[in-house]
Amino acid sequence: MAYWTTIIGLLALTQLGLAKYTKFPEGFTFGVATASHQIEGAWNVSGKSENVWDRLTHTRPWMIADGTNGDIACDSYNRYREDVEELVYLGVDFYRLSLSWARILPTGRIDYVNPDGIRYYNDLLNALAEQNIEPLVTLFHWDLPQALQDLGGWANPRMIDYFQDYADLCFREFGDRIKSWITFNEPYEICEDAYGDEKKAPAIDSHGVGNYLCSDTLLKAHAEVFHLYNETYRPVQNGNIMISINSIWYEPSDPADAEQVALAEIANQFKFGWFAHPIFSEEGGYPAIMIENVARQSAAEGLRIPRLQQFDDYWIDRIRGTSDILGINHYTTHLITGPGVDPIAKSPSWLKDIGAVTTMEVGGDSASEWLRIVPTGFANLLRWCKSSYNDPPIFITENGCSDRGELEDYNRIKYFNDYLTEILNVIYDDGVNVLGYTAWTLMDNFEWRAGFSERFGLYYVNITDPERPRTAKLSADYYKQLCATREIPQDDRFKDPALRVRTEL
Ligand code: NOJ
Repeated sequence: MAYWTTIIGLLALTQLGLAKYTKFPEGFTFGVATASHQIEGAWNVSGKSENVWDRLTHTRPWMIADGTNGDIACDSYNRYREDVEELVYLGVDFYRLSLSWARILPTGRIDYVNPDGIRYYNDLLNALAEQNIEPLVTLFHWDLPQALQDLGGWANPRMIDYFQDYADLCFREFGDRIKSWITFNEPYEICEDAYGDEKKAPAIDSHGVGNYLCSDTLLKAHAEVFHLYNETYRPVQNGNIMISINSIWYEPSDPADAEQVALAEIANQFKFGWFAHPIFSEEGGYPAIMIENVARQSAAEGLRIPRLQQFDDYWIDRIRGTSDILGINHYTTHLITGPGVDPIAKSPSWLKDIGAVTTMEVGGDSASEWLRIVPTGFANLLRWCKSSYNDPPIFITENGCSDRGELEDYNRIKYFNDYLTEILNVIYDDGVNVLGYTAWTLMDNFEWRAGFSERFGLYYVNITDPERPRTAKLSADYYKQLCATREIPQDDRFKDPALRVRTEL
């Protein structure tokens, strides 16, 4: 009985949100994010060409959990004014959106600019300006024009030029209204999931090879676009430009096990450091441990040239320091259980190159298998970023949790509550310089290979209705209150009644 009283008491304490801090510092900003392919639809309308996700979902529909696709999605191409109304309701400071390369440049190259693509984004940006909502714009959120994929996509070094041309056009056409740019969303997912695996389009699955070809190109393309903005556009447009890196944060399953601790550090260098180290570390270049491990594995495979090589001095220099802010997407933490080859690792592969066994058996549940709820992992990641990269300004460009379609989404609210609390803890206790927070996502949308089966929205979207009606979930009201008060809401109505009842027993 005493045992159960203690457990229930503890549950009640966390549920009641008895956190040390609840109020965000002056100047901290709040927003929500979406991405073009996940919401726009209009996949072949008004000059837009096919992108890699159109190709994957149309030719291999069985690869999408519920067989859906982005053909219509939330129909934001036609309903962007409704999106803006939702943003106004929430009272956000900014809206993170992404541009569809294939809508703007149907061949992927600069030889033909689609006037309708320019018109669409001008309309959206102007609608946001009318409401004083700042746009935070991502140039590339995974929807590569298929025409460029046909040339090898990010495994082809010529992509550095194509990306630069595309970015140049976007800066020129839209930059007068955009104060914050993101070059790439989640480079790890682009390179590892799409080229080194088949978790994302174009699902090349060139494990241990294509993923590293991709990272060489992507980091150079990022750097060139940063320099372009910095030298040509910043002086007149006065904005900032960053990259958004995703972390599955790794922790040892037994913190007292020194070997596991060391392996977790290696895993974090492979996951976050792969893209963060070349840009944010003092010495630049890929993390030494990656170069070392891949060289050792490559030699064992009988290769003359390692699958991943360090950049030369020119590129180390050119890439280092090319982000004004460290953009972090963060959702979850996984564990390291020991050395060896992870049972799910292909050969060769990024995962095998790490040399550690991982598990997802940690934290609370969401609707996504990979998304374990571990708020303290977020705090550890943020502290690690501060110490590894010389105290950079950090912007949380995504954070959120999935449901299966419920409107009273207490699990998401609790997720926000606990993750936001950890942000406050590291700001006030550790001096981590976090500037803003972006909830993923405004409304339920096309969640890539999960289709609409895993929903991350503050708004529920009925995708069986051609009008795509959007209904605010309880978390929309929670977020609205957060934006209005700059304080983590403590009201009872945001707490799971099931737990409320239990605390009264
Ligand atoms: C990160 C990606 O940027 C976004 O597109 C995706 O929907 C969320 N994670 C949730 O998986």
